[in-house]
Amino acid sequence: MSGFRPGDQVFARPRDGRIETFAERIAIDEADLAHVPAGLSPAEAASLPLVALTAWQALVVRGNLQPGQKVLVHAGAGGVGSVTIQLAKHLGAEVATTASAKNADFVRDLGADVVVDYRTQDFEAELSGYDLVLDSVGGENVVKSLRILRPGGKVIGIAGPPDPAYARAKGLNPVLRLAIAALSGTVRRQAKKLAVTYEFLWMHASGEQLRQIAALVDDGTLRPVVGKSFPFDQTPQALDALGKGGLRGKVVITGP
Ligand SMILES: NC(=O)c1ccc[n+]([C@@H]2O[C@H](COP(=O)([O-])OP(=O)(O)OC[C@H]3O[C@@H](n4cnc5c(N)ncnc54)[C@H](OP(=O)(O)O)[C@@H]3O)[C@@H](O)[C@H]2O)c1
Repeated sequence: MSGFRPGDQVFARPRDGRIETFAERIAIDEADLAHVPAGLSPAEAASLPLVALTAWQALVVRGNLQPGQKVLVHAGAGGVGSVTIQLAKHLGAEVATTASAKNADFVRDLGADVVVDYRTQDFEAELSGYDLVLDSVGGENVVKSLRILRPGGKVIGIAGPPDPAYARAKGLNPVLRLAIAALSGTVRRQAKKLAVTYEFLWMHASGEQLRQIAALVDDGTLRPVVGKSFPFDQTPQALDALGKGGLRGKVVITGP
């Protein structure tokens, strides 16, 4: 039976196959939906599903983050980072993050205990003994992140490289599976040497997880971070702004 009625305010990150475009209307699966938390503007609601589901799946589902554990959230002032810091703090973790100096107070306000200015400091020299890292930067940042873990710790990468488990889950053919295994080969070998693990996460739609996230917004644990919103007909300007960087949290496109 449907939990939704006509006129309900809902939000979602639509499932794969229905994303990667801009549209005023979209048909989506009911299982991907949840009711918008009371008091959120449409822009605030729109800013949350992708990044909050990513944070949830990284910290709760894949990371099994426990109170007292140490987590590094890269790019804490960005869309994913700004929500992940808040969720990690709620889960009772000690939270470090990387951000520009100008965003240090902002990420502290979100809950970061330790802030490393990635432009002037080397996070590898500053941090050690971490249980979990969420990497949204990719490249060399992933390899360096492996080296700040305690043995048994885990880096979860959302900006790549993809790993064999992802290729299997996607049902890719053997050739593509091999190619994907090769992409993360160096990172996985490094991880093995250090007795830590690397996992790639491609987040998925989930109305059920979104309901748990909505409850955290309702009780004031999580707050959306909208750096800037643009009307629909200024979508190119929104993309320009994203390309230039310097905005906090999410950039949102609103209705016309
Ligand atoms: N796999 C998945 O399921 C999934 C899900 C969501 C997002 N993603 C990917 O994750 C990445 C991040 O997404 P996002 O929306 O959070 O991006 P975003 O909001 O555009 O991130 C921008 C932030 O990155 C920070 N930054 C740039 N270079 C950095 C560095 N070297 N070290 C630390 N921080 C750095 C900037 O910090 P300052 O402003 O402080 O300089 C800025 O706040 C993207 O590649 C996106 O495609 C993947």
